[in-house]
Amino acid sequence: MEMLLFCVWALLALNPGPGATEEIFEVSVWPDQALVKLGQSLMINCSTTCPDPGPSGIETYLKKTQVDKGPQWKEFLLEDVTENSVLQCFFSCAGIQKDTSLDITVYQPPEQVILELQPAWVAMDEAFTVKCHVPSVAPLENLTLTLLQGNQELHRKDFMNLAVASQRAEITINVKAQREDDRCNFSCRAELDLSSHGGGLFHSSSAIKVLRIFEFSQSPQIWVSSLLEIGMAEAVSCELARVFPAREVMFHMFLGDQELSLFVSWKGDTAWANATVRAMETGDQELSCLVSLGPMEQKTREPVHVYNKPRLEESDCPGNQTWVKGTEQLLACVPKGNPTPTLVCTWNGVIFNFEVPRKATQNHTGTYCCTASNQLGSVSKDIAVIVRGLDEGISSTIFVIIIVALGVGVITIALYLNYRPCKIERRKLPYRQKEKNKEEESQFAVQQAEKCNAHNC
Ligand SMILES: *[C@@H]1O[C@H](CO)[C@@H](O)[C@H](O)[C@H]1NC(C)=O
Ligand SMILES: *[C@@H]1O[C@H](CO)[C@@H](O)[C@H](O)[C@H]1NC(C)=O
Ligand SMILES: *[C@@H]1O[C@H](CO)[C@@H](O)[C@H](O)[C@H]1NC(C)=O
Ligand SMILES: *[C@@H]1O[C@H](CO)[C@@H](O)[C@H](O)[C@H]1NC(C)=O
Ligand SMILES: *[C@@H]1O[C@H](CO)[C@@H](O)[C@H](O)[C@H]1NC(C)=O
Ligand SMILES: *[C@@H]1O[C@H](CO)[C@@H](O)[C@H](O)[C@H]1NC(C)=O
Repeated sequence: MEMLLFCVWALLALNPGPGATEEIFEVSVWPDQALVKLGQSLMINCSTTCPDPGPSGIETYLKKTQVDKGPQWKEFLLEDVTENSVLQCFFSCAGIQKDTSLDITVYQPPEQVILELQPAWVAMDEAFTVKCHVPSVAPLENLTLTLLQGNQELHRKDFMNLAVASQRAEITINVKAQREDDRCNFSCRAELDLSSHGGGLFHSSSAIKVLRIFEFSQSPQIWVSSLLEIGMAEAVSCELARVFPAREVMFHMFLGDQELSLFVSWKGDTAWANATVRAMETGDQELSCLVSLGPMEQKTREPVHVYNKPRLEESDCPGNQTWVKGTEQLLACVPKGNPTPTLVCTWNGVIFNFEVPRKATQNHTGTYCCTASNQLGSVSKDIAVIVRGLDEGISSTIFVIIIVALGVGVITIALYLNYRPCKIERRKLPYRQKEKNKEEESQFAVQQAEKCNAHNC
């Protein structure tokens, strides 16, 4: 009896009295920290220590399905978890409800890491921008972005202390371009560290971007002789100084529309292109040189004049010329060429003014030396001049005929003159004189004619 009383007392003493059960029973949830990859599902075990629990369940806006249960627990499947949320697990025990909450953290490992270099080609001493961004990553506060130049860390950024709403997984820096940076590999590394939540360490890197740096401050210079000779191969060149990287400079050269084939070389900070031009038309033309490097392009134009060397052709300057004695003559010689050549002729070592017509005399016969010159050079030619009298060659026959004809004409006139005004005197002449030869007769006639004239008849 005493023993029973003691037990009752002990029970009363241990129990805090009415309402004590609510202090005693516990509600717990497993897991106690939930890290779910975006879009994945999660199993929840909600349990209690209440020996005979009343109504129970979980409160969440996520899609939930009860998959199993025991007397003191319930298991749920949560599907398509896309956002961070807080879940409540509750049990009631003897009319008293208790709950416990679970933070669900959604994570998204960095998969795509995008690096941009702007501009792709940057002028020396100008600033360029390196920008890295991760379109889809969570949670941001556990992300670290690192910009790398080669293997060297350029800049590092974490997102722990900034207001989440204002953030994007992005990092941008500006750098001044140095020559040494040319062709440097830039990359960006994203790290998501979830190890303290029982997750892992996720990392991903961007593709490598190569930075190009250039210097291009001058215009190309064309080297060409201002006199090009038609049809002749002439060396020309186009030079670009103070350029970097010189060996990547591209050249195009044109004479008018015709593109020239080039031989490109470089040394130090100078690049040049050599070509051979062959102009096929005389006159003013344009030689141009187009130079490009990365985003830069420059064109230089140079006027050229295409000339023709002087020529003394047989058609315009015959090597054999025949002059007729006593006639007005010019030395026939017209030079060809562009610009029009000047002509100088010498005769017996003396300059001969070939532009003045002169009366051909025997002593004009000889060899004349004519020289035509222009800016491109000069050419000489010997011209043999023969001065012929009228009795020479074929013309002498004609000359004889003309002389005979003239002679006959003169005699005829003489006879006529002798006959008409002096017939009386003539009739008085003795008959026998008629037998004298013609020469004597004409001589006589002339004498008579002279007499006649003397007598004013
Ligand atoms: C849920 O949790 C309770 C209490 O820890 C445990 O007894 C039970 O076996 C769990 N259920 C499952 C399906 O793991
Ligand atoms: C850049 O990266 C390429 C390919 O990964 C490598 O071959 C090259 O050597 C790197 N250049 C520099 C300057 O590190
Ligand atoms: C993620 O970031 C939060 C906030 O800075 C921090 O409390 C937590 O420990 C971090 N988790 C990991 C795994 O670093
Ligand atoms: C190119 O032309 C320049 C100037 O005309 C000359 O000095 C140089 O030797 C040439 N180079 C080559 C490779 O032909
Ligand atoms: C000029 O005449 C000479 C002699 O007749 C001849 O040998 C020469 O070939 C001629 N020259 C020309 C250029 O016709
Ligand atoms: C040609 O010769 C004559 C005399 O023989 C001379 O009087 C004349 O000056 C000469 N003419 C030339 C052009 O030499």
